Amino acid sequence: MRYESIAIHGGKTEDSGKGAVNYPVYLSSTFIQPSLEEFQEFAYTRGGNPTRSHVEKLVADLEGAKYGLALASGMAATSLVFGLLKQGDKVLINNNVYGGTWRYVSNIFSLHGIEYEVIANFNEYDFEQADSNVKMIFLETPSNPLLEVTDIRKISKAAKARDILTVVDNTFLTSYFQKPLDLGADIVVYSATKYYAGHSDILAGLVVLNDDELYRQLKFLQNTYGGILSPTDSFLLTRGIKTLSLRLDKHQKNALTVAKFLKAHPAVKDVYYPGLESHKNYDLQRAQATGDGGVLSLRLQDGWDTSKFAKELKIFDLAVSLGGVESLICHPATMTHESYAKELQEQIGIDSKLLRLAIGIEHEDDLLEDLANALDKAKL
Ligand SMILES: Cc1ncc(COP(=O)(O)O)c(C=O)c1O
Repeated sequence: MRYESIAIHGGKTEDSGKGAVNYPVYLSSTFIQPSLEEFQEFAYTRGGNPTRSHVEKLVADLEGAKYGLALASGMAATSLVFGLLKQGDKVLINNNVYGGTWRYVSNIFSLHGIEYEVIANFNEYDFEQADSNVKMIFLETPSNPLLEVTDIRKISKAAKARDILTVVDNTFLTSYFQKPLDLGADIVVYSATKYYAGHSDILAGLVVLNDDELYRQLKFLQNTYGGILSPTDSFLLTRGIKTLSLRLDKHQKNALTVAKFLKAHPAVKDVYYPGLESHKNYDLQRAQATGDGGVLSLRLQDGWDTSKFAKELKIFDLAVSLGGVESLICHPATMTHESYAKELQEQIGIDSKLLRLAIGIEHEDDLLEDLANALDKAKL
């Protein structure tokens, strides 16, 4: 089956023989054991629940992978993977990742004796200079919020040669547009809150991988930490995934239209979107992904007021998050990326003028009219 069909028919498992077209919600915390000597697949929902197993299998099927794990949020998924690290290990991370990931790395690692290093241009990184205790590489590509693209193939190959795990946060593209495991990565994490769920209604996280031993460890940690996706949210995530490809095609079409419009507008100084030919990683993005997603960032020229522009928008709500059907605008420096120290923000380009747009699936003309109108009003 092809991706769109797997999204609808994948993950199929036994549903107690009742013939429901939708996999049911098993709202049960505990499951009856046949006898003292006999054990069955499900015992207690933290360890496993049929509705969660269904969506875990579905996301693995979509990625052509062996295993999926569903967590209560994207950060629960990222934390789970960081749980593989031991005291003395070191992690290399690209330089603009989601603020919550940065909050974890910069506050929690040191408590456990784990080191990290931020790599400014990973595509040019020379692995000969990597310390011998580097055990994991954590990449977010395209990055958040500057949409920089990191070469998954090149980096995971060099990492593998040194027994270093490559982890990719694939939230911005999903497996519909990019399959990091096929490019050589070991583990993929997602905030499924975003495109997978797709309707800004639930929080969810996913981990997808092929390796049996890593899966055994992560499954153990999932049951031990307990940050699992609930049965009801597993159902809603499954429902969202059925329309993932349709939505992403539209998000992307709208995003490219908006990016081109902004690029040509005299009020706009910078536009960051990997689908624009002017983007510095345009070719690399084509080499490793089949799409560019629905997020872009911009800066206005000096003669325009950034705050007024955000305020005058009628369709774009000022809110964090992305990947829902509605268009959103956010100010990374004070919203999604406020966990970065001011100097670090400036150093990596998250300044007070940067705005991030999450493009929804509204009619593109309405989006363009809204943007044009707000830009007019924001002129000083
Ligand atoms: C790229 C990326 N990774 C991870 C996360 C964390 O996900 P969640 O909010 O579901 O915990 C986010 C949330 O915005 C994100 O944008």
